[in-house]
Amino acid sequence: MKENSTITEAAPVEGAPRAGKSAFIRTYGCQMNAYDSERMAGLLRPLGYEIVDAPEAADLVILNTCHIREKAAEKVYSDLGRLRAVKSEREAVGADMMIAVAGCVAQAEGGEIIERMPIVDMVFGPQAYHRLPEMLARTARSRGDILDTDFAVEEKFDRLALARDIEGPTAFLTIQEGCDKFCTFCVVPYTRGAEVSRETEAIVAEARMLAARGVREVTLLGQNVNAWRAAPARDPLGAPIAAREDGVWGLGQLCRHLARIEGIERIRFTTSHPRDMDADLIAAFGEEEALMPYLHLPVQSGADRILAAMNRGHTEAEYAATIARLRAARPDIALSGDFIVGFPGETDEDFEATLAHVERTGYAASFSFKYSRRPGTPAAAMAKQVAEPVKEERLARLQALLEAQRVAFNEAQIGKVLPVLFEKPGRNPGQLVGKSPYLQSVHASAPESMLGKIAPARIEGVTPRALAGVICGDGR
Ligand code: 5AD
Ligand code: SF4
Repeated sequence: MKENSTITEAAPVEGAPRAGKSAFIRTYGCQMNAYDSERMAGLLRPLGYEIVDAPEAADLVILNTCHIREKAAEKVYSDLGRLRAVKSEREAVGADMMIAVAGCVAQAEGGEIIERMPIVDMVFGPQAYHRLPEMLARTARSRGDILDTDFAVEEKFDRLALARDIEGPTAFLTIQEGCDKFCTFCVVPYTRGAEVSRETEAIVAEARMLAARGVREVTLLGQNVNAWRAAPARDPLGAPIAAREDGVWGLGQLCRHLARIEGIERIRFTTSHPRDMDADLIAAFGEEEALMPYLHLPVQSGADRILAAMNRGHTEAEYAATIARLRAARPDIALSGDFIVGFPGETDEDFEATLAHVERTGYAASFSFKYSRRPGTPAAAMAKQVAEPVKEERLARLQALLEAQRVAFNEAQIGKVLPVLFEKPGRNPGQLVGKSPYLQSVHASAPESMLGKIAPARIEGVTPRALAGVICGDGR
């Protein structure tokens, strides 16, 4: 995997009745954004919007943006440039097009977007999605510019939860937003605001609703998901789950609790910060069967000097100690990481420390990036910015090592029997695709009746992106 910054389009609903209006949503960046886009589609459908797969046919275009790397923000501006032409073509035939910029670029740049691109009708940040219907109505009435980038968090989680569409046996569930860590390279604390945890009761209610609709695997989402803290559930659904010393639940307790909900068989969460990996959460990996043995725990760099300059709040040795504790609790846990090469001041020696860290640690999956200078962040103003060709060379070396580890991890599954949750039909007839506990895609010949079930599969081979399995037991 080169980058986890992808651009996806919200899927149109096949066979949906032709509505009066149509909307096109383009998603840039992370899973959190993909989740937000899904929510926006869910808010638009009841308003009579059909979700279409091209901007040319759309009355409303939403660019759900990502600001995390400079290239991503620039991509939004160039997409807006192209939309200007599409919009005037539509206007020439008497049709209209409303353009909204949502997400983190909207949050960070606010009114500047409209100044730079007057074709934009609406700008709203990640905390304002649930007001999309209201904003559309206001815009439609006035066609004036609307700015809504305030951090108004209340009710947001709950309103979005009601508006969601669910397909298949897996679903995301947002439990936390925002970040107080202020890594010196990162825009998230400025664009997504402070860390906020969703209340336990609301999370439990949403998980129950998902389970009732056939969801068997939930992925708990948050920018700092393991910083989640909230009051214990009112009904423990069994023997009481002991709170932390401060009387609240952390993510470990929440996972144990959600695992008690009938129908929820698998729990994952992302993205975690090494500083928030508390003892209970680590223990839960060993004790809670539903907690999948896979953890995305970004380290960013293997050099202490760089970790300090990044304000990560931990050393390489502290990260390694956390991994050792995790492996003691759950020996087969698979790790995934994020890495940045070419952070300001990174020397060859620092970079070698990152390679050595990767060699020692062993990652099953990873996302790695060249440092990108984000205006307004402390690192952007740091001296000793690293030259582009150096970044490129380091990234290529790091990615070669990480890719070799990923392939080795996949090949190590050959001959094993893994429980696979089948999610959707595969490319070939008679084939289904599912996920192993380690988040690997697994293809197997299986009847459609196996969709939504967990069945044991013997792994017989690997393809570049997946494992090939043969079902060797009943699905449940
Ligand atoms: N430059 C490069 N990579 C970045 N990330 C975040 N900000 C930057 C930046 N300015 C990466 C980090 C983070 C992931 C989501 O994106 O590795 O964990
Ligand atoms: Fe950004 Fe650091 Fe917060 Fe992650 S922990 S969102 S990298 S500031």
